[in-house]
Amino acid sequence: MMRKITIKKILSKKKKSPIICLTAYTKNVTKIVDKYCDIILVGDSLGMVLYGMKSTREVTLDQMILHGKTVKKFSKRSLVVVDMPFKTYRSKKEALNNAKKIIKETKCEAVKLEGGTKIINIIKHLISNKISVMGHLGILPQSIKGKFKSKGKTKKEKVKILKEAKLLEDAGVFAIVLECVETTTSKLITNSIKIPTVGIGSSVYCDGQVLVTDDMLGLNKTNIRFVKKFVNLKKIINEGVKKFKKDVLNRKYPTKKYSYN
Ligand code: KIV
Repeated sequence: MMRKITIKKILSKKKKSPIICLTAYTKNVTKIVDKYCDIILVGDSLGMVLYGMKSTREVTLDQMILHGKTVKKFSKRSLVVVDMPFKTYRSKKEALNNAKKIIKETKCEAVKLEGGTKIINIIKHLISNKISVMGHLGILPQSIKGKFKSKGKTKKEKVKILKEAKLLEDAGVFAIVLECVETTTSKLITNSIKIPTVGIGSSVYCDGQVLVTDDMLGLNKTNIRFVKKFVNLKKIINEGVKKFKKDVLNRKYPTKKYSYN
């Protein structure tokens, strides 16, 4: 029998075995990544990846719920975390209503919110109402206007992120995503807290790694430094589509095998 990954299991991986996390938004991708992941993140990156939006700020609660429902339905093993989109957690009341709605409708195990000090009371409120929360520090895409720049390079930033990581740990989040955090800072944070860090562009010293699946499969055009293309799916899809076109033009498809007699 397939064992479902729990938050307890994620916590137990700290310093023992790297946590594997990828994004998924759809049925087919979920069924594949579920076999390999500890955590599936229904990230609000779906705004850009699926819908061609300019930023995650345009993503709605309904979109997150729709995709969260699908991912949860087709994942058997991984812990499913759904991002709370921009402007859905501006007050304790708003955050609790929306987090409850996400969990009730998708049946996901946890939600992820971006930020540290500014939203600490909101995170505490969710946790005291039995909502499991994953934190997110470093680059916060929902707050960014303009270019992405790595975080934690200066002494001031290093101290700030470390302080925020400790605040999140004390508030009770079960793990923290560190996005584009400079190597010595992500190492320091990972060694200073008891909960796991899951890095994206934040060095090998994190307790786990997350990537946007479409990026690591080579489907998304991106030149972000930390994105390794583990396969060039765009090339493979192009070849398939080209062959389909050629066969149709040459009346080689459908042959008898693919027709009803
Ligand atoms: O939205 C997302 O996919 C994320 C990851 C990049 C961590 O938050």
